[in-house]
Amino acid sequence: MNKLLTWIDERFPLIETWKAHLAEYYAPKNFNFWYYFGSLALLVLVIQILSGIFLTMHYKPDASLNDAGIPVAFASVEYIMREVPWGWLIRYIHSTGASFFFIVVYLHMFRALMYGSHRKPRELLWIIGMVIYLALMAEAFMGYLLPWGQMSFWGAQVIVNLFDAIPVIGPDLSVWIRGDYVIGDATLNRFFSFHVILLPLLLAGLVFVHIVALHKVGSNNPDGIEIKKNIDPKTGHAVDGIPFHPYYTVKDIVGTVVFLALFCAVIFFMPTLGGYFLEHNNFVPADPLKTPDHIAPVWYFTPFYSILRAVPPILGSQFPGVLLMGVSVVIFVFLPWLDRSKVKSIRYRGSLYKWALGIFAVNFILLGYLGVKPVSDLYQLLARIGTVIYFLFFILMPWYTKIDKTKPEPGRVTWNH
Ligand code: HEM
Repeated sequence: MNKLLTWIDERFPLIETWKAHLAEYYAPKNFNFWYYFGSLALLVLVIQILSGIFLTMHYKPDASLNDAGIPVAFASVEYIMREVPWGWLIRYIHSTGASFFFIVVYLHMFRALMYGSHRKPRELLWIIGMVIYLALMAEAFMGYLLPWGQMSFWGAQVIVNLFDAIPVIGPDLSVWIRGDYVIGDATLNRFFSFHVILLPLLLAGLVFVHIVALHKVGSNNPDGIEIKKNIDPKTGHAVDGIPFHPYYTVKDIVGTVVFLALFCAVIFFMPTLGGYFLEHNNFVPADPLKTPDHIAPVWYFTPFYSILRAVPPILGSQFPGVLLMGVSVVIFVFLPWLDRSKVKSIRYRGSLYKWALGIFAVNFILLGYLGVKPVSDLYQLLARIGTVIYFLFFILMPWYTKIDKTKPEPGRVTWNH
C-alpha cells in the first residue's frame, strides 16, 4: 500500500493535497455548534447526488398521458414509490434531503452573520457562497417540477410567469424558458436536464471553489479574530489552530450522527412533514385545466414569495414586486460592505447589531410563514410590515453597525461562552 502511495505521490500530489486541505489544515480551536453546517451541507450534497442517481434510473420526464390517462412522469414517480424495491426510501431521502439542504444552508449563512465570517478577508468566499445559494434555489425549483403533480405544474407556472412582468423582453423570455406558451413537455425535459446534470455539476464545482477560497484565507471562528496573525515561529502554525484531523473529523462525526438521526426521523415517520416538505396537492397529477385553490412554493422560498406578494401591482404591472423579490435575495451579496463595525463577532458587538440580527431572523421566519398561507387582509398587512423590516436591516446597517458600542476583541480565541 505504501509503495503504491509513493508511486502515485511521485506523479500526483495526493498525500500533499490530503495533508494541506484535510488532515493538517489548521482550523481555530474554538469552533462551536455553528461550525457543523459546512460539513453537513457537503454531506447533504452527496446524499442528494447519490439518491438522485437511483431516482433517475426509474424516473421518466414525459408529460404525455399513459393508457390510464395519467401523465407518464407522475406515474413513474408512483412506480418508484410502489414497485421499485426500496424506491419509496430513495424518493423520501431525496425529497427530505432538499428541505434539509436549505435548513443546513440557512443555519450556515446565519453563522456567518453572527461571527462576521463574510467580512474582510472572506468577501469572495461569501460571494461564492451566494452563487451556490442561487444555484441551489434553481436546482430545487427545477427538481420540484419533475413529479408533475398539481403543485409542480402550477408552481412552475406562477414562477415562470413572473418573468413575463419584466418590461420589453419579459414575454419572449418566459416563452424561451418554458419552450412553449405554457408549462409543458418541453419545459419538463429541459428542467430534467438542468436538474440532473447542469446544476449538480455547477454546484460541485462551486463547492470546490468555496473550499479553495476558504483555505486560502483560513477559517473564521466564534471570536471573529484572525488566528493567522499569531503564528508559532517553531511550528509555523497558528498558535490558536489545531489540525483538522483528528480534532474536527471527530467533531463532524458527532454532527453527522445527530443530523442523520433527525433526517431518518423525518424520512420514516413524517416524510411529507404535514405538507411542508412535500405538498399534499402534489400527490394529485398535474392538470392544466384545473388551477388549485391555493398555490404556494415550498417553505424555503416562501420568505421571498411573501415579499413578492406584499408589493401591489403598479399601473397593472407586477414588475415592482418581482424586482423587489430579486433584490431581497441578491442584497446579501453586499453585506461585507454594508457592515461597518470595528469587530466581527457578535460576542464583541453592542446591543444594536444583536437586536437587528435577532429581529431580522424572526422576521424572516414570519415572512416564510405568511408565504405559505393564502392571502388575507391581515396577512397582507403583516407581509408589508415584514418586507419593510427586512430591507431596513440592510439599508440601515452602515449606520447602526458604525454607532454600535463594541467591546475590545481578545488577543487569543476564548472558550468562556
Ligand atoms: C452546498 C452548499 C455549501 C457547502 C457544501 C458549503 C461548505 C462549507 C464548508 C465545508 C465550510 C467550512 C466549514 C464551516 O465553516 O462550517 C464553509 C465555510 C463557509 N461558508 Fe459555506 N458551504 C455552502 C454554502 C454556503 C453559502 C450559501 C454561503 C453564504 C452565502 C456560505 C458561506 C460560507 C462562509 C462565509 C464560510 C466561512 C465560515 C467561517 O470560517 O467562519 N456557504 N462552507
